[in-house]
Amino acid sequence: MDINGKVFKSFLERVDRLKTQNGPDKIKKQHDKGKLHARERIALLFDKNSFEELDAFVTSATPDTGFGKIDSAFGDGVVIGYGRINGRLVYVYSQDFTVMGGSLGSVHAKKIMKVQDLALRVGAPIIGLIDSGGARIQEGVASLSGYAGIFHRNVQSSGIIPQISVILGPAAGGAVYSPALTDFVFMTKKTSYMFVTGPDVVREVLNEEISFEDLGGAEIHAKKSGIAHFIYEDEENTLLAVKKLLSFFPSNNLENPPFVETKDNKDRIDEKIRNIIPDDTNKPYDIKQIIDLVIDKGSFFEVSEYFAMNLVVGFARLNGKAIGIIANQPKVLAGVLDINSSLKGARFIRFCDAFNIPILTLEDVPGFLPGVDQEHSGIIKHGAKLLFAYSEASVPKITVILRKSYGGAFCVMNSKSLGGDYNFAWPSAEIAVMGPEGAVSILYRREIQQSDDPKQLKKELAAKYRQEIANPYIADEKGYIDEVIDPAETRKKLIIAFESLENKHIDPPARKHANIPL
Ligand code: HXC
Repeated sequence: MDINGKVFKSFLERVDRLKTQNGPDKIKKQHDKGKLHARERIALLFDKNSFEELDAFVTSATPDTGFGKIDSAFGDGVVIGYGRINGRLVYVYSQDFTVMGGSLGSVHAKKIMKVQDLALRVGAPIIGLIDSGGARIQEGVASLSGYAGIFHRNVQSSGIIPQISVILGPAAGGAVYSPALTDFVFMTKKTSYMFVTGPDVVREVLNEEISFEDLGGAEIHAKKSGIAHFIYEDEENTLLAVKKLLSFFPSNNLENPPFVETKDNKDRIDEKIRNIIPDDTNKPYDIKQIIDLVIDKGSFFEVSEYFAMNLVVGFARLNGKAIGIIANQPKVLAGVLDINSSLKGARFIRFCDAFNIPILTLEDVPGFLPGVDQEHSGIIKHGAKLLFAYSEASVPKITVILRKSYGGAFCVMNSKSLGGDYNFAWPSAEIAVMGPEGAVSILYRREIQQSDDPKQLKKELAAKYRQEIANPYIADEKGYIDEVIDPAETRKKLIIAFESLENKHIDPPARKHANIPL
């Protein structure tokens, strides 16, 4: 073929049109809002020159009914393809807001479904970069059907390949449900928002005034609804964090997470750790201090940092191997379990289990949160989700009881009878049916009432109970925990214990699927 000839020239013209079709004005508009263009985002996410685009030249099927403007740009408002992130294969779709507001018509939907199918077929993670006004109004039912096809594929891929959604602009209407079906949702502060119906509809239907930010901005979804697992200041930092998160995951459910060489000593004994829990057992401390001293230095990557902060969850590495950590946070609500923390923990455990990531539980929990609000809002049902997730998980599971382990919380947090592989306890552990004050109030109600100094008697009885009952040694002697360990040896013990579980294998009973209490 003559590269100066007509045939080649028309090919080059098409390529050129693809590059320039959005025009500098529309891209400038994106930049002025603090947003990047769909292709710029892909360039930031993937290893240099590794991205291969698919279906770049498809054209829109949006009918020109004279109702609303039609943009016949190549690609129909979404860039799809595959490339390498830290050397590993990943599929992507990136919505282009400069073409009809990134709205989803039938061709746009078919492109997304195409990469969903490919990612599932080859067993590679998929990332959706979302910047969309939702279902393309001009295409009517064809858009709705497109969304349903995407949702179906999200569900079919769930637990087989990691699916990540990154919200970098509007995610309105149908655009919100695909992210909700994926494993992790990232949002960028001030420039992204998610809602089923926007502020205009809220005003019309409910006569309520609310801004985009307050209805569905990043902070609301990170702190209140819990829908956003990660939020960052800008797109660059958001996309960097996506890469970091991926580094903990295998490419699919049949593989193990990648090993990352560590300089940290696997036999490291850290005496500082002995002094973190205060002598007064009712005093708080920060569980993250303990996490940091146990894991490979600097490897903790927290998930849902601002939601249900009484439970800390996240990924880390122990001697180079990925683990998932679930830890009660005594600094917030005394680390109590409530509805939101149960939901947060259960979802995280199920992800780890699906993708062969061993689970470490650090326990210091006074119990479930009492109260009318929690009971009427279904703490029974939601707490059961956490129980269910722990019990169902077949990956290696280890608990270290640091301090409080009372009542139902003892059972829930991966106790041995629930299927935990090893349970260790620190000497500071308090394992009992309930806390000292509650226990003596029930056991010695009459004596306390009839006493000349009920307060003093209760205090003395509680101290005796703490000394004789609420300690780790009764559970140790009866075999409910495997060993009481020196806190300074926690890292070393955990590395050895997880290594012993590397070949753990459980054949689940044959059934269609279990019925988690939703
Ligand atoms: C077709 C759309 C569109 C849509 C935006 N555009 N949304 N075109 N269908 N859904 C077009 C606009 O007409 C405009 O075209 C361009 O995209 C940019 O939009 P602007 O409004 O100028 O941008 P901005 O001011 O930034 O506002 C963005 C927005 C707003 C907040 C997303 O466009 C908006 O409210 N869109 C509708 C959101 C929505 O209600 N979607 C729900 C659809 S129903 P021009 O030609 O002027 O550049 C749905 C149900 C599915 O999704 C249910 C499945 C479960």
